[in-house]
Amino acid sequence: MIPRAHEFAGDALLLLDQRRLPAKVTWLRYTTAADVAAAIADLVVRGAPAIGVAAAYGLALAGRSGDREEVRQAADRLVAARPTAINLKWAVKRLLARAGAVSDDQLAATLRQEAEAIHAEDARMCRRIGEHGQQLLGERPRILTYCNAGALATGGIGTALAPVYVAAEAGRQPQVYACETRPVMQGARLTSWELTQAGIPVTLLVDGAAAFLLARGEVDAIFVGADRIAANGDVANKIGTYALACASARHDVPFYVAAPQSTFDPHTPAGADIPIEFRPPEELSDRFAEPVSPTGISCWTPAFDVTPRALVTAYVSDSGVEPGGRGQIT
Ligand code: MRU
Repeated sequence: MIPRAHEFAGDALLLLDQRRLPAKVTWLRYTTAADVAAAIADLVVRGAPAIGVAAAYGLALAGRSGDREEVRQAADRLVAARPTAINLKWAVKRLLARAGAVSDDQLAATLRQEAEAIHAEDARMCRRIGEHGQQLLGERPRILTYCNAGALATGGIGTALAPVYVAAEAGRQPQVYACETRPVMQGARLTSWELTQAGIPVTLLVDGAAAFLLARGEVDAIFVGADRIAANGDVANKIGTYALACASARHDVPFYVAAPQSTFDPHTPAGADIPIEFRPPEELSDRFAEPVSPTGISCWTPAFDVTPRALVTAYVSDSGVEPGGRGQIT
């Protein structure tokens, strides 16, 4: 079964604790926007569309007070939780706009309805991404993916993994290669787990093996997600995506970026204008039970990089498939 990242219970938001997967399947319960913001910053929930959905529910929780000032402060806190994924800001702005159009006594119900609408819309957009994306795949497609842009990262069946799920539903036999995605291991811990839960064959590889796999002709297409797509088509996604895009161009393997409309940011002109989050050094230096580096080592820890439009074969969104800067869609 394809897993879910969120459940909303009216007075609480339940989040599958993605920090503990695959070792423990634990749901955590949140009743305040401040705690939801902390959960987003701490990667309990992660992935651009999923944090947008979580932030919307977080704001709905704040709205139960009926106090507009509390909602405004909660909005600021939620938006500040992670800077790169535009879906977070997009969802919060959308709720604030709805709040501005209703009376105080309608505030709570309106925010809740809008959060639920965002969640349901995200699920529909994922499904459409899957339907458009599967048309790019053959009968037994071998797909390489990076990080986790699956169900755990969205309110539906994912973005980069949506074509895989739709192709499998149609009786085709997709096989996925998942890069482990250092340092937080979203590929090893999350993509491998969710595909296994869904019964899709998945093979894990270290990030450094991806270029060699492409060189050996063992991948038909690369699908990745996005945290933000600038107006010029540059793509911010998990650190390491750019290196994969370079290798895909070298070996002429199509590089597809799958994202819903909420990830396209017309207000950010180019990739260089996208704010890049840097993560705490401990995520790199203290990841394992035993130290893998000297105590206090200096770390460079961007969570995302930018892939220029020139390296993208096509964008697969809920609206269809649009060519990138790499020429022909194969
Ligand atoms: O740091 P994360 O795990 O939130 O990074 C997630 C990614 O980079 C995903 O590829 C992106 O958000 C798209 S999720 C559909």
